[in-house]
Amino acid sequence: PLVTSKELFSRAYDGNFAIGAFNVNNMEIIQGIVDAAKEEKAPLILQVSAGARKYANPTYLKKLVEAAVEDSGLPIVLHLDHGESYDICKQCIDDGFTSVMIDASHHPFEENIAITKKVVEYAHSKGVVVEAELGRLAGIEDDVNVSEKDAAYTNPEQAAEFVKKTGVDSLAIAIGTSHGAYKFKGEPQLDFERLQKIAKLMPGYPLVLHGASTVLPEFVELCNKFGGDIPGAQGVPEEMLRKAASLGVCKINIDTDLRLALTAAIRKSLSENPGNFDPRKYLGEGRTAIKEMVRHKIVNVLGCNNFL
Ligand code: G3H
Ligand code: 13P
Ligand code: NA
Ligand code: ZN
Repeated sequence: PLVTSKELFSRAYDGNFAIGAFNVNNMEIIQGIVDAAKEEKAPLILQVSAGARKYANPTYLKKLVEAAVEDSGLPIVLHLDHGESYDICKQCIDDGFTSVMIDASHHPFEENIAITKKVVEYAHSKGVVVEAELGRLAGIEDDVNVSEKDAAYTNPEQAAEFVKKTGVDSLAIAIGTSHGAYKFKGEPQLDFERLQKIAKLMPGYPLVLHGASTVLPEFVELCNKFGGDIPGAQGVPEEMLRKAASLGVCKINIDTDLRLALTAAIRKSLSENPGNFDPRKYLGEGRTAIKEMVRHKIVNVLGCNNFL
């Protein structure tokens, strides 16, 4: 069934593992993710951005996720990723989403609280859960100093106050991750001390890590080998994600790794089969690559296999 993340997060918190939140944009991506989760008996969060809704058409995306639920029998959360206003959150709640993110993190603290609170009130009246964000997810140089960190990263005392005042169900925090394939200039580094402080101030509370793709070198290399040009890509090392999952992070967001797997497989297929023009061949190979990527995440990084 379509479910909220409430029970999933409480089990993930207690078990020191995390649930994968995968961005979906089309049928092959959804099928690859769901096939892996089904085989590994893992719960799933399928998340949809405003860009995904624009690309695929909101009705098509919703129906594809419903098909995934019907076909797999898995508990699946349908989540709005980075909702930028009350209105888009309300629209998704009214459309049947079971979870929405209101991302007012670029607003001043008090405004973030006010906007988030308004979304929480509407969502909760409909049985829907809400994720919010505090802090900035900007890419940070590895020689960043303490005051620059304090300005961008999530302030632990503010996080506790924010959660208390808004009643939000989960909170995305900034500790050094960022979106996309270029996360670190030098050595990857996350502020685990800060994460520990946040977790300590909010025992039992589910935290969310955005920008958590690993950017596996083998997929970047495959892209580059078959005509791509993705130099210097670097993600969050797997052991850091496992550590985060043991420190209160219950939801780990992954989009870039899916994009890389799909693109690498399609580039390879087209390059090795120049006479082929049946999209089912290269899209099928892309779908298989997504499935293997997600299986790897579930078993080796998230630890949410054999959940059901
Ligand atoms: O946080 C961003 C996600 O990777 C979604 O990206 O807005 O291009 O769909 P998008
Ligand atoms: P990545 O770009 O690291 O995959 O992060 C995705 C994300 O946070 C979606 O909200
Ligand atoms: Na999100
Ligand atoms: Zn994000």
